[in-house]
Amino acid sequence: MIPPAVPAALHPLVAAFLADRDGVRAALHRYGSPLHLVFPQIFTANLAALRTVLDTGAFRHRICYAHKVNRSATFARTAAHAGISVDVASAAELRSALAAGFRADRIEVTGPKGAAMLRAALSAGITVNVDNLWELATLAELIPPGPAVPVLLRVSGFRGSSPSRFGIDLADIATALDLLVLHRDRLRLLGFAFHLDTAATTERVNAVGDCLDLIERAYGHGLTPTVLDIGGGLRQVFTADAAGYDAYDHALRTGLLGRGPAMHWGNNTFGYHVAEGMVHGGPVFHKYANTEPAATILAELLAAPLPGHGGRALGAVLTDNLLDLWLEPGKALVDHAGITVAQVEFVKQAGNGATLVHLDLSRDTVTAADQEVLIDPIVLAADTESPPVGVYFAGHLCLERDLITQRKVRVANLPAPGDPVVFANTAAYHMDLSAAQASMHPGPTKVAVLHREGQFVLCPDADYRPGDR
Ligand SMILES: Cc1ncc(COP(=O)(O)O)c(C=O)c1O
Repeated sequence: MIPPAVPAALHPLVAAFLADRDGVRAALHRYGSPLHLVFPQIFTANLAALRTVLDTGAFRHRICYAHKVNRSATFARTAAHAGISVDVASAAELRSALAAGFRADRIEVTGPKGAAMLRAALSAGITVNVDNLWELATLAELIPPGPAVPVLLRVSGFRGSSPSRFGIDLADIATALDLLVLHRDRLRLLGFAFHLDTAATTERVNAVGDCLDLIERAYGHGLTPTVLDIGGGLRQVFTADAAGYDAYDHALRTGLLGRGPAMHWGNNTFGYHVAEGMVHGGPVFHKYANTEPAATILAELLAAPLPGHGGRALGAVLTDNLLDLWLEPGKALVDHAGITVAQVEFVKQAGNGATLVHLDLSRDTVTAADQEVLIDPIVLAADTESPPVGVYFAGHLCLERDLITQRKVRVANLPAPGDPVVFANTAAYHMDLSAAQASMHPGPTKVAVLHREGQFVLCPDADYRPGDR
């Protein structure tokens, strides 16, 4: 059986770039294959969409680009040029942010930090988003005489949220407030922060409610926090056809049950649990089903009524209380702003009858944390009259698990060696999160793609400067 198609949603700029097949081949010829392509103009458009939503409120806001989503210098420089802030999670990201042009007062460091990172943060003079009590106490000890260091307290343990290894548990906030009072000449509490990797507005509303209570508690201690930092977690839209996604998921589950042709390789169940003639649980690829753009999710959150505040909308409560909203979007800012292009090496038949299309890259170069991607790679092969086929894409490592798709994918026709294969929407965590350099394969080159005066212009990621003509 030929699997249902799960077409990727493409930004019009990416679609236009891919429509020129000679241009894609020329890019591969010039920079080598595989290639990560980043589109700073799409980053800018995503940022504008979030800003439009925030500007409908009367409260002050700050967008901190979560650098961890991609190593790209192009994105970091685009964010700096746009006047937003940045969230860094390592010493290397801090260096990248400074090199991109962010001033210290527009940089915050998040995530768990050791003493070396705390020292680096102190010498750079940036805001520290404190993960735990050890960090807070150590920071107070390390601070040299001089102005107090701005800090946010990351909180976790909210009602209805799954347990988190990050943040200070709500039950331990009293200790944190005591430390802040004790060291008030060294530490300046800006406010409270959280990061929830969830699509659920209700969960965020709960966390916001708890953080607003904490702000009030802090005032009771003589502290004057004004910031509510809601972290990242705004979703991306991967699929162009939600019905295609559902049809594929259904075919996959039918195959897992043995009631239809198998769409899965080997013993893979993609997070599903098959027992007693049923498929249970949720799949690892659930995020690919989302159809709500980040700006819509943000608008919903700002309009959500806050239970402890007479049901007033979150945005209105921020305005009433003169609070600043901080956000740390990563994937929402780079949604659709990156693709990865590889090339077919050869096609072979496996012993189990499967058709394997071998590519010149590995699975970890285009998947996030080894989760199966439920959108189809795009094959830029010559059009033929032949009927569609179902294939597995295989990687170039000598590892059984290096199957780029561990599920059967519908392709319009069988590709030939040298044909480009495009992985859509890889900028958020897919490109950089888990990519290894096994077998001494070099990592893909990263190149920025700009659309200027009707032409696509390519430039190495490291060389891109916003505003250059
Ligand atoms: C503290 C913090 N802020 C922001 C982000 C960015 O999240 P997202 O890419 O989901 O927007 C992360 C991601 O892990 C994070 O840990």
